Parts: sequence; structure tokens; C-alpha cells
Amino acid sequence: MVTVFGLGFVGLTTALGFAEMGHTVYGVEADSHRLSTIASGKLPFLEPGLDKALLRHLGHNFKPVGDPEAAVDDSEIIYYCVGTPYGDKGEANLEYLFAAIEQTIRLFRDDKFRVLVVKSTIPPSTTRRKIIPFVEGKGFHAGRTIGVANNPEFLREGHCWDDFINADRVVLGVDDPKSEERLKALYKNVKCPVFCVSTTTGEFVKYLSNTLLATLVSYSNEMSVIADKAGDIDVGKSFRILHSDRRWNSCDMTSYVYPGCGYGGYCLPKDTKALYAFAKSAGFEAGILGKVIETNDCMPGIIADKIDRAAGYDKGKVIGVLGLSFKPNSDDVRDSVSAKIIALLNQKGYCNIIAYDPVANDEFARRYDKIPLLYRHSCHELLAEADILVILTAWDEFRGLKELTDKPIVDCRYML
Ligand SMILES: NC(=O)c1ccc[n+]([C@@H]2O[C@H](COP(=O)([O-])OP(=O)(O)OC[C@H]3O[C@@H](n4cnc5c(N)ncnc54)[C@H](O)[C@@H]3O)[C@@H](O)[C@H]2O)c1
Repeated sequence: MVTVFGLGFVGLTTALGFAEMGHTVYGVEADSHRLSTIASGKLPFLEPGLDKALLRHLGHNFKPVGDPEAAVDDSEIIYYCVGTPYGDKGEANLEYLFAAIEQTIRLFRDDKFRVLVVKSTIPPSTTRRKIIPFVEGKGFHAGRTIGVANNPEFLREGHCWDDFINADRVVLGVDDPKSEERLKALYKNVKCPVFCVSTTTGEFVKYLSNTLLATLVSYSNEMSVIADKAGDIDVGKSFRILHSDRRWNSCDMTSYVYPGCGYGGYCLPKDTKALYAFAKSAGFEAGILGKVIETNDCMPGIIADKIDRAAGYDKGKVIGVLGLSFKPNSDDVRDSVSAKIIALLNQKGYCNIIAYDPVANDEFARRYDKIPLLYRHSCHELLAEADILVILTAWDEFRGLKELTDKPIVDCRYML
């Protein structure tokens, strides 16, 4: 019996993944709209495969609930998949995590040994320095009367279900044998390697992964800016030639070694900033991470200048933006670079901006309601009205754009 707090991309995938493995799972969600959507058998976001898993398990071994009391009482393992957004100085904001842990502990009515497992991304040493003292302050003894562990998640949005079910590794951050035994039993049927490490190593491994990806993206973007300064360089082709090096051996990582508009989305920006802030608070200036962040923060400005140049600095032109989600095959617009670029174009005086995204128009309009933007429902509608086209998200649908129009195109994703 497992309870999962937070039914976002990670929590819903985790809950349904455990249900698929044969466990009985309660999913606790604080947002009533999200909860009722899930309880009615629908996904609150676009995520291939997860929809079918929800229909398979809903009402059988997966129960979404708003009130966690019965769930916590029944469960021996409690997962936390709540958000860990930016804090004021870029550090990870842990308020949702601690609120959920506190909420859980208050509901304990017996002295059953329960393991609290953090799947949210939290900076190295958070468990040891903050979570364990917090639960011990409530009268528990970590490792004896309560387990505290982590199990970082590496899934990619757009591939959540497949990444969870066919994981390439499971990392268990555990410091006590009882928790280790219980978590190993939870994952006993998985086919990939299961690494048991200390709680601090578990936390670190997740940042190691995301900050490397962010570094690859910023490196590629810096190279594309240098190429633009030289002029007459086919940037997309140059990177595809780089990828043909047999040492890459057609690995999926090449998608990160490719220039674009800068990394966005929920994870890379906040996790890179959080690790940088963590290092700083520990008295170390992380020079590489600092530059990775700086390069990324500069990209929207560089792209907005490029569009301005392509429009001949004519603010009356109608700019047609193609792509609003932070990456293709997703409707997630959190920290979307498109929002930053559109806001910068507005600041430069462009007021006629129209946009089309195959799935994210509504979500973008909801989240960025202050950005003045007109939405179009198809690529054709947008092509007919715009004076200049700007590709900001590399949706497959945009690949044949050159055949559809002879209007100027700024291909910020080097995909044509
Ligand atoms: N999105 C990703 O691709 C991804 C991948 C790996 C790790 N992560 C990490 O996983 C965590 C969650 O990310 P996400 O994208 O799923 O976030 P999300 O914002 O989509 O989901 C978090 C959910 O938790 C709910 N919640 C908050 N407090 C709650 C409480 N006390 N009780 C019940 N529900 C509560 C929120 O309402 C929300 O629905 C973050 O730490 C993130 O960094 C995310």
C-alpha cells in the first residue's frame, strides 16, 4: 500500500506506475480541479500512454483522493511528488514538501513504521540536514520509528509513462536498512539496475543529470551565437555533422547538443539555479554553472534581437510565432522561452504578434494572461496573416514550412 502526494507529471506517473507493478496506490492531490479531472478518468496534461494507464487502474488499484487521512493510515510507504519551485534567490523552495510531510505526520494514529520517500527534486543534504531533524523534532527517530528516503525521478515530459515503466535506472537514497528493504521490495520486479546509495548521493545524482543537460544546451547555444557572429555558417548542419561522430553512436543525448532558444520547462532552469545557489550557500562559486545560467538567461534577448533584425526593425509587421510549449510533444508552458521572447518583442514595440501551438494555446493563454497575444488555431491561419514567421518550438508539424510559404522565416530551432 503506497500513498503518493501530488499528482502532477511525476506524481501521477509514479502512482500509476506502482499500480501497474501490482501495488495498491492512493494518490493525494491538493488542487481540487486537477483531482476531479483525474477522478473522472482524464489527464490534466498531455502525456502519451498515461491516459490508458489511468483508465486501467482508476477505481481498481489506484484511488485519487483529496483527504489523505485513510490513505496515510493504510500506507507503509508515502511518496512526495510535490513541486519544488524557485525560491527568492534561485534556491529550491521546499515549502510544499514540508507542508505535505507535516500534514502526513499529523495523521499518524499508530506506531507502524512508515517510510517517507521524497521523489521531488531536492538539493544535496536536504534529507540529512532538514527533513530528518524536522521529523525528529516531531518525536520520531529516523531509521527506528520512521524511515526517511529519496527516490529521484529522471522521466522526461512527453515520455513520462515509458520512462517510468522502462526506466534505465532506479536510484534509492536510503540511510537505514529497514527503509532500504522496503523500497527494494517495492521495486523488486523492475528489470533495470537499482542503485542503493546514501540519501545525499540520491539527491546529488538528480542534479548531476539535469545540470549536465543544461550545460550541453548552453554550450550549444553559445556556439550558435559565435557562428552567427562569423556569418555564413549553416548552424543546424554543423551540429548534425558533430552528431555523426561515432563516439555519440546515435545516442539520444544529441538532442541536448543542439542550439535553440535556451532551455525552459519546469526542471532544467530551476534545478540548475538551485544547485548553483546551494554551492554558493556552501561558500563555493560554481563558475561553470554560473556561466551556463548566464548564457541561458541571455538567449531570449539574443533571439528577440534576431527577430527584430529579420523584421527590418519595422514594428508594424505582424510576427507569427510558431510554438509556445517549452518543447515539442508537450503542452507544458512552465518557464517557456516563447513567453520571454514574446514579452521582449512587445517591449521592443511589436504589438501585432499572433501565435499557434498544436496543443498549448489554451495553457499558454491561462498562464501568461498578461502577455498581449492573439491565438490562431492552425498553421495555415497563421501563415496567411503573418508578415514574418518565427519557429520557437521544434514541433514536427513545422518541418515542411518552407514548402508552404515564401514569407521570411526565423528558424530559431535550426530544424528546416
Ligand atoms: N516534470 C518533470 O519532468 C520532472 C522530472 C523529474 C523530477 N521532477 C521533480 O518532481 C517534482 C514534481 O514535479 P511535477 O512536474 O510533477 O510538478 P507539478 O507541479 O506538475 O505537480 C505537483 C503537484 O503537487 C500538488 N501538491 C502540492 N502540495 C500538495 C499537498 N500537500 N498534497 C497534495 N498535493 C499537493 C500540486 O497541486 C501539483 O498538482 C518537482 O520537484 C520536480 O522538480 C519533475
